[in-house]
Amino acid sequence: MTELAAPEPAVEQRIVTPAATPTEEIVVLDYGGQYSQLIARRVRDCGVFSELLPHHVPLEEIARRKPRGIILSGGPASVYAEGAPPLDRGLLELGVPVMGICYGMQLLVHTLGGRVEQAEVGEFGRSDLLVSDPGVLLREMPKEQTCWMSHRDTVYEAPPGFKALASSSSSPVAAVEDAERQIYGIQFHPEVVHTPYGQEILTRFLTEVCGCEPTWSAASIVEEQVRRIREQVGEGSVICGLSGGVDSSVAALLVHRAIGEQLTCVFVDHGLMRKDEGEQVVKTFRDTFKVPLVAVDAETRFLDKLKGVTEPEAKRKAIGAEFIRVFEEEAAKLAGASGGENARFLVQGTLYSDVIESGGGTGAATIKSHHNVGGLPDDLQFELVEPLRALFKDEVRAVGAELGLPERLVWRQPFPGPGLAIRVVGGEATKERLDVLREADHILQEEIRKAGLYRELWQSFCVLPDVRTVGVQGDERTYGYVVVVRAVTSDDAMTADWARLPYDLLETIASRMINELREVNRVVLDITSKPPGTIEWE
Ligand code: XMP
Repeated sequence: MTELAAPEPAVEQRIVTPAATPTEEIVVLDYGGQYSQLIARRVRDCGVFSELLPHHVPLEEIARRKPRGIILSGGPASVYAEGAPPLDRGLLELGVPVMGICYGMQLLVHTLGGRVEQAEVGEFGRSDLLVSDPGVLLREMPKEQTCWMSHRDTVYEAPPGFKALASSSSSPVAAVEDAERQIYGIQFHPEVVHTPYGQEILTRFLTEVCGCEPTWSAASIVEEQVRRIREQVGEGSVICGLSGGVDSSVAALLVHRAIGEQLTCVFVDHGLMRKDEGEQVVKTFRDTFKVPLVAVDAETRFLDKLKGVTEPEAKRKAIGAEFIRVFEEEAAKLAGASGGENARFLVQGTLYSDVIESGGGTGAATIKSHHNVGGLPDDLQFELVEPLRALFKDEVRAVGAELGLPERLVWRQPFPGPGLAIRVVGGEATKERLDVLREADHILQEEIRKAGLYRELWQSFCVLPDVRTVGVQGDERTYGYVVVVRAVTSDDAMTADWARLPYDLLETIASRMINELREVNRVVLDITSKPPGTIEWE
């Protein structure tokens, strides 16, 4: 896409053997394209397990996995750039089908003797594809279709032995195949929604070319994980810190499904949760799912630690440290109750995207510094059980639904570990301010849900600055709090846009807050995107 070579992450850090490795697997080699993760997700959407590995992973590592097929992703490099990621020809000798997408196709064509040239103009965005010879890959699909392109280098000639299948206005050769050697290439991106036949093309490659069976599903993940968890922990006792978020909830339920009462969950209620959230967690896990659960009401302890703390990082640190202290105390009590035998295993809701992004793969828990609440230090003497380590977020939700987790928990928006404390901004998180914020937040959540917008938003919440303003209510002067409404759309929290909530909804929210909450006399809307703002205010 640009002329630069892709940066190379350290191989040994990026190789991950996920906790669940089903028998059939597609390896996606990552050449640094912005859609690489998406390719792996789309393959899984077709019911086939796939793993994203760095492009420079040793050939033996790929062979060891015995993949049914290999996909080479797109990437920012030009095949002519110095240091451009090369193709290991050995890949083509493994006897499994290979398909290159965008840079992946250019690499195949260039290496195998076709003609790739640097073009003056690139081809970015929607393009019209004209199919001249559908081959295997495009069979039974329209002759003319839309596709999504994002490249500058262009393929002008297919390599010897290959057929050119299609072209677009800027790409004389937009798809190639050598069905005999089972090597395929497409210049456009089948993984993005703007390529309407993309999923069909991927399915064609996976089923007809690679011969995969679509067996990867929420039900099969549950079955496989239950087996693996049993294998890992045997008769051992397991402890799980439950936060009420979807990841820890699904991880806990999976482990409970596998080993029942050998699991004890610890829910630390730091008093910084949203309204009724603590009760809901206890009710769901203890009453509905009968999971052994220790719920610790630690509100006073946390509020004590927050006294006089106003600086955002200091708040996070105070909460993080206290969380660990409470959790360790509870773990020690549990060990005492079980006759001195410590819980040997600790459940962590690590996801595949955390694994990919952090470069970890050694089994150590990686917790981003500002995501450290609810996370535990790695010097705790536990062996980790990470049943979600191979799963993307949407798969975690599907597994949650499969296990019967209530919709409210399955679709819960992300909520920061330090909770409402980092939304009471510019001052101390006192009980009084937290309570005002909690009530305002409750009204916001109710109205957003009523409007059917909860799932569409990445997050919706309130912020309570340490500011009071003058107002007039019932002929009286008031001096009350300002509530900030923050609602954003996002895919991954790296960037975010402020949500265009309907005016009528905003009006209802504002008037409910002011009418129902004595302490509040003004409501404002945050219209900052990220960047330049962050999602949270602290
Ligand atoms: P920012 O504010 O950095 O937030 O744009 C990005 C995402 O991370 C969440 N967040 C946190 N999560 N502990 C957490 O567990 C934290 O300290 C923390 N700070 C921010 C935030 O809610 C958003 O989804």
